[in-house]
Amino acid sequence: MTIQFSTKIFPQADLQSPKLLKSSLKSILAYSTDCLVLAYSKADLEGLIGNKGAKAKTGLLAELDLLLGGAVARVSHLGDLDVKQGSSCLLRAESSWADNGVKAKRVLLLSMGDLHLSKERSLSAFSTVARAGLKNLTGGSIENALWYVPGFATANQSEFMTEEVRLTIQYAGDQAYRFGVRQPAMKFKAKEKADTFKHLTFAGNSHFDKELKLAVEQGNAMVEGMNLAKDLGNLPPNICTPTYLGKTAQGLVKKVGLKVEVLGLKQIEALGMGSFLSVAKGSDTPPQFIVMRHQGGKAGEAPIVLVGKGITFDTGGISLKPGEAMDEMKYDMCGAASVIGTMYSAALMKLKKNVIGVVPTCENMPSGRATRPGDIVKSMSGQTIEVLNTDAEGRLILCDALTYVERFKPKAVIDVATLTGACIIALGHVHSGLFSDDEQLVAELTKAGRASLDTVWRLPLDTAYHEQLKSNFADVANIGGRPAGSVTAACFLSRFTEKYKWAHLDIAGTAWKSGAAKGSTGRPVPLLVNFLLEQK
Ligand code: BES
Ligand code: MN
Ligand code: ZN
Repeated sequence: MTIQFSTKIFPQADLQSPKLLKSSLKSILAYSTDCLVLAYSKADLEGLIGNKGAKAKTGLLAELDLLLGGAVARVSHLGDLDVKQGSSCLLRAESSWADNGVKAKRVLLLSMGDLHLSKERSLSAFSTVARAGLKNLTGGSIENALWYVPGFATANQSEFMTEEVRLTIQYAGDQAYRFGVRQPAMKFKAKEKADTFKHLTFAGNSHFDKELKLAVEQGNAMVEGMNLAKDLGNLPPNICTPTYLGKTAQGLVKKVGLKVEVLGLKQIEALGMGSFLSVAKGSDTPPQFIVMRHQGGKAGEAPIVLVGKGITFDTGGISLKPGEAMDEMKYDMCGAASVIGTMYSAALMKLKKNVIGVVPTCENMPSGRATRPGDIVKSMSGQTIEVLNTDAEGRLILCDALTYVERFKPKAVIDVATLTGACIIALGHVHSGLFSDDEQLVAELTKAGRASLDTVWRLPLDTAYHEQLKSNFADVANIGGRPAGSVTAACFLSRFTEKYKWAHLDIAGTAWKSGAAKGSTGRPVPLLVNFLLEQK
């Protein structure tokens, strides 16, 4: 139950060319759709009403008005056409429209404000407009729409086009996502309806039809990956267990041809993952270690490795968490979900790179068999760890996964984890925390975040912070006290990543929303997919 995305090429159409404007509009309006989405600029509005020295009756809105029997001028007189960026106005077909060969049942006019065609227009300003447009399409009776926003259909704008199309698709997927209707097994509410909106078509012309098609394919694959990540995050912890995550990964073998290996307790023991196992110990459900491979690149090519924290429920263990909002600790596997989702996207878009996704997954539960504060455990790397707080469990499962991935001789390793509450205090719900000493990785991840509006903010990893992790009894302690809690968590991980280039993403504040809109966001799938797409 997802939106279908497609393209429709109007070979000659170009709404930026005054000469082609009329014929372009005519051909686009003749396309049968529930709703044609068109954007107008301040200049278009001035051209319609003829003030500020502009010649009356020129530009997009003026031409459109002629084809729509005066409907545009009428809403304009009513004051319904605003210049404000992101404001919108829906026109419904009148009988006169058919006389001009108009087949669109509605025309949604979207104000780009000053954004129109300006080179400096920022992606976030564009997203305001796109989101406003999509809001009109979802949640009502519209089933399909043709999306034509100036900029898309001219060759000179194609650099923006790819990012904009992908972003529009990302937001459309966000607005149409309904947990309860995705699969019968996920229907927990008696009444839950799928959104009526099912099909979004992007209009383009022959100048960049291939680029448009590719952008739509990539956007679609990204939304599928985000949806999977959201599903896994939102599923209750009695269903989304480590075994369930393993089965989900294995399901992608048949579906998209990923290679998947799921290691169980015995194999994890044999690998010497004493740190990972110390977290799993308190739970009755067995841990799993998932390895997923997408081999889109050359055989010997070094892979990008993604590692996701898969705590399917974090009670804190013996260092038990307070009860308030503890249900949200079902989201403590969102790192894993985003890695599985990104692997799915990579396979769907047949990415020409080697990518490996690794997920250590277990529950963190208190019990007679659980690890105690003060216990010392031996990690796969050989380093011993004094567990001073059993609630700092994410780093304990990740450190062994980070040692395990050395065997892949990775080009780079990125781990993704809902690691620290302190990251929410530092960055809120806007940026994910980024930690890395590799300037190139930092630059690439920052850029990928900006392009998908799934942003990151760099935090430090200085050696000075390592002081806080000193233990009197073991090589390292698993907590570093309250100051800079996210930094010391990242510093702990860094001790296990010396053999390769590494970055850590703390997604504690960005992976899900609390409150009335409680739910998984699918982040950082857009960031990771964009990062992979940009890899040389
Ligand atoms: N999964 C939590 C981090 C978390 C908490 C994410 C709240 C999102 C919201 C992690 O396992 C944890 O409990 N971290 C502790 C670390 C502390 C004991 C050093 C924390 O952040 O309090
Ligand atoms: Mn915890
Ligand atoms: Zn946790």
